[in-house]
Amino acid sequence: MRIVVLNGSPKGELSITLQYVLLIRKKFPEHQFKVFNVAQEIRKLEKDDGAFKEVIDEVRASDGVIWSFPLYFLLVPSHYKRFIELVFERGAGEAFSGKHAASLSTSIHFFDHTAHNYINAICDDLDMRYVGAFSPHYHDLMKEAERERLILFARHILRAIESNAPTHKSFAPLLRSGFEYQPGPAPASVPVGDKKVLILTDGEKGQVNLERMVQKVRQSFAGQAEVVNLHDVDIKGGCLGCLLCAYDSRCAYSGKDGYMEFFNSKVKTADVLVLAGAVRDRYLSSRWKLFFDRSFFNTHIPIMMGKQIGFVISGPLRQIPNLREILEGWGEGQQANVVGFVTDECEDSVELDALLLRLAEQLVQFAVEGYRRPVTYLSVGGRKIFRDEIWGGLRFVFQADHRFYSRHGVYDFPQKRYRMRAIVAVMMLLTKIPRFRDEFRRRTKVEMVKPYQKLVERA
Ligand SMILES: Cc1cc2nc3c(=O)[nH]c(=O)nc-3n(C[C@H](O)[C@H](O)[C@H](O)COP(=O)(O)O)c2cc1C
Repeated sequence: MRIVVLNGSPKGELSITLQYVLLIRKKFPEHQFKVFNVAQEIRKLEKDDGAFKEVIDEVRASDGVIWSFPLYFLLVPSHYKRFIELVFERGAGEAFSGKHAASLSTSIHFFDHTAHNYINAICDDLDMRYVGAFSPHYHDLMKEAERERLILFARHILRAIESNAPTHKSFAPLLRSGFEYQPGPAPASVPVGDKKVLILTDGEKGQVNLERMVQKVRQSFAGQAEVVNLHDVDIKGGCLGCLLCAYDSRCAYSGKDGYMEFFNSKVKTADVLVLAGAVRDRYLSSRWKLFFDRSFFNTHIPIMMGKQIGFVISGPLRQIPNLREILEGWGEGQQANVVGFVTDECEDSVELDALLLRLAEQLVQFAVEGYRRPVTYLSVGGRKIFRDEIWGGLRFVFQADHRFYSRHGVYDFPQKRYRMRAIVAVMMLLTKIPRFRDEFRRRTKVEMVKPYQKLVERA
């Protein structure tokens, strides 16, 4: 069989994910696996119709497609996202239609599920037959049991293609609305005081609702509120995945484009950030993805700490909970306060005016009060993953992270809580005595709530 592998790593042949594919290729010599480095070659694919057509023709002639990619900021890299946009823009979807597909990524498991949901949804939109996802930790290839798991996965995929297995679509097609937002007269503005407000948008000509929503939210702030269009920021290209930044947060693009200067001078210094964009396929645009990916020069340091963030989105966000989770996960993971989302889905201009004003009010109010809502699993889970990865195998690579984590108490492993450890050790011993154990089990509920009850009484 002929399998096309769409390699989404900007590192091309040096991709770790690709090594998983190459192992599969070795184990199944009876099948042909043709690899296209579509992320690394994205500039060429954008400019050279012939090169793009070559990939699409191979897809058309293939029996199945493997979407192979590294996780970048809770999704696929911006270059890969751009490739997917090109497929839709150039009407090349018919080449994918009806083909069986699978996704394979490597990562440290931080929001790998959202990236695979995205590719699954793209496959459903392309009318492909999505068979499944394989998402190992990038180091798993070194373990025999994990290699066996990979081969079993490949066998399962190849069998599904051979037998023309039926597949289930997980994501319903998106319904787009024709609503046109007509903003009302300028509302009473929210005084921003000494807070710095930055509104980032990727608005393009013709995105009427997005443009008007950005204008409206801008008008809602009285005082300094700067609007920057990401298309006006000098960004030469996507993250190269080179990890030059890991030692001291310096990017390979330093001095070559304006992204770092823009990010350091505008984004990092803002108290309030409004991120505005339009839904494009199952995410925002690849320009937005470029913004997120290139911020990796800050590695795993939560640079949005303490900022208030609001999202203003044009398009069917309610139908894409995966996208909402990605945006919230990014904001929370950065230790910012995600204040809320406003979209044009209410299809009512008066209501939309009010929602945008309310968002502006809350952003400023929370910035003044220093309010941050309690974190959820999105942040707690991520923090623990990064803590363990940087403490472990990645410390010598990500030395900037290690220095930051050491200074800021991110290494909060429980073993340093000596009092708690002593209590736990004594309790463990006591529960070995049957009478104590029975009494303890009987009183667990009452004893657990006691300290909290006392606190409420005293308050
Ligand atoms: C810009 C950037 C963003 C990343 N974002 C994530 C992420 O969101 N989640 C995750 O688990 N790993 C993330 N990683 C780690 C990569 O996914 C991981 O190192 C992967 O194995 C690289 O694969 P490759 O060699 O095929 O490019 C990121 C790495 C880079 C360079």
